[in-house]
Amino acid sequence: MKISASFLSIKEDIQNKIKKLDDSNIDYIHLDIMDNIFVPNITFNFNEMNELLKDTKHMKDVHLMVKDVKSYINDYKNLNPEFITFHLEAVDNVKEIIDYIKSFNIKVGISIKPNTKVEELLEYLPLIDLVLVMSVEPGFGGQKFMANSIEKLEKLYDIKKENNYHYLIEVDGGINSDNVKFLNKADILVVGSYITNSDNYEEAINNLRW
Ligand code: DX5
Ligand code: ZN
Repeated sequence: MKISASFLSIKEDIQNKIKKLDDSNIDYIHLDIMDNIFVPNITFNFNEMNELLKDTKHMKDVHLMVKDVKSYINDYKNLNPEFITFHLEAVDNVKEIIDYIKSFNIKVGISIKPNTKVEELLEYLPLIDLVLVMSVEPGFGGQKFMANSIEKLEKLYDIKKENNYHYLIEVDGGINSDNVKFLNKADILVVGSYITNSDNYEEAINNLRW
């Protein structure tokens, strides 16, 4: 199981804390990108994000919670991320966006919100590298984990096995040392406040690993 660390909930001394996160035993840095349209919140713009992350060594896991997906891909491809993930609910040209991300040799993820069913993803599953199941409504860190995500992880795991698909399964939102035991079908856990609100990042990360 891999950990993708979100710094969305870090509100002060951000650069230093990102460095501390990057020096910890994580696998990816998770970038929460918002536009105040697809979700009712906004974070850093691309230049600020680029500046904050410029000295980090971990691979980037970009989570676009935006409506105008293509224009954000045009920016974030420049960080050379491992994955760019967009929301199924944000676009009506899903296949075109998949191909667009692939054209930059970046792995493609699709995310679904808590009320979106796995079934809506079926036709895209053979084409993508990652499925991101939201276990909170996207937009804010520090929310409560929603248990309906567990069933979706299991379904995605079974579909993957049955069809020999290659996508990784990722889950994002409200993850902590108590609910992590239900998430063993996921390959990547996105964890924000449980790590960044703790005094000891390394200890928090170790509590999540099984
Ligand atoms: C929510 C974001 C998540 C979130 C994770 O919109 O996509 O990445 O920040 O943070 P926690 O772990 O605090 O829910
Ligand atoms: Zn996220």
